[in-house]
Amino acid sequence: MTEHDSTTNTARLIGTANRGFAQHAQEEVRRLIPGVKFRTLVPTETFLAEAPGSWEEISEAIRAQEPIFLRHMQPVQGGRVLSGTDEDILAAAELASELGGLHAGSSSAVQVRIADGTEVPYGASDVRAACEIAMSEATGAETLVRHADKILSVYVGHQAIYAGVSAPEENLSDWSGGAIRFQREENQVSRAKFKLLEAERKFHLHFADFRKAVDVGAAPGGWTSLLLERGLHVTAIDPAKMHPSLIKHPRLTYHGKNAADVKLREGEFDLLVCDMSWSPRQMSRLILDLLPALQSGGTAVITAKLMHKKPFQTVKELKQDFEGHLELRQAKQLFHNREELTLYFVKK
Ligand SMILES: C[S@@+](CC[C@H](N)C(=O)[O-])C[C@H]1O[C@@H](n2cnc3c(N)ncnc32)[C@H](O)[C@@H]1O
Repeated sequence: MTEHDSTTNTARLIGTANRGFAQHAQEEVRRLIPGVKFRTLVPTETFLAEAPGSWEEISEAIRAQEPIFLRHMQPVQGGRVLSGTDEDILAAAELASELGGLHAGSSSAVQVRIADGTEVPYGASDVRAACEIAMSEATGAETLVRHADKILSVYVGHQAIYAGVSAPEENLSDWSGGAIRFQREENQVSRAKFKLLEAERKFHLHFADFRKAVDVGAAPGGWTSLLLERGLHVTAIDPAKMHPSLIKHPRLTYHGKNAADVKLREGEFDLLVCDMSWSPRQMSRLILDLLPALQSGGTAVITAKLMHKKPFQTVKELKQDFEGHLELRQAKQLFHNREELTLYFVKK
């Protein structure tokens, strides 16, 4: 049995959020796309959405006001009922050769996800290899891992296999399911570094273009280490100890104190980062006191803990707290955020 989309003006897509946050992502999508209907694929994480319009229109409307919690979306232009046997690999390859959107001379990448809890005797790499062969035979399109013109996204769910072709930017993230991975380095100071690396990409920041940063709640120093690597002078504030590998760095100034007890020079910094794991209201009070040290037009990247699961209220309150001081450019729950969000502001 096949599950083809007809040529009617209804599009289907798979949306993915961090575990526990799909309901918030759906709420945001519902505000942007009236009439959308949802079906759960993996509880609290992945869902199928059906909405009036084309994939391009829906993707554009969603990207124009990017939701905080929707990490990734991919079109569903075809599907097959899951057999749970190796036949599925063949079915996915068939889908790959049938789908439109690819042509000779363009490059493509194949991204395959198998939903948690789907019991199948094959792995994502088996499906990907079969799809790559089928696609290049059908279209002559070259397959790449990154920076391809088009992505074929295959999702092996509990009951069906779904597939669709899109431009990478249409998906919100060009990583499969938005699960962006960074190489873990030897001697990496903390996993928290990945959060700032992801924020740098997501918000199109180029930290190397900044000069002087203050890192509030810096220990053990993952964020500080990234900013030092980018060539910045960093003032790190934390009563807890910084990692020994950083402490003698010639561009690091370390205040081993509570941030409330540190005096900073006015306009000294063009970047303020804060990853304090505090209640958002306490954090905003502390940051407001430090803000004179950030130049006008300077950038702030701040994580906000999500208390009591009322995220939209939290963002609203933070916007109010910083009103007149910081302009919120984007709030996003990054793949590397747990019960928190990352906020990107520019100082007024
Ligand atoms: C999640 S950790 C930061 C991790 C860091 N971004 C990294 O990459 O290694 C939170 C830090 O905030 C610090 N912190 C909490 N309250 C603080 C305050 N009032 N002033 C300065 N640092 C504070 C804690 O001591 C803790 O080290």
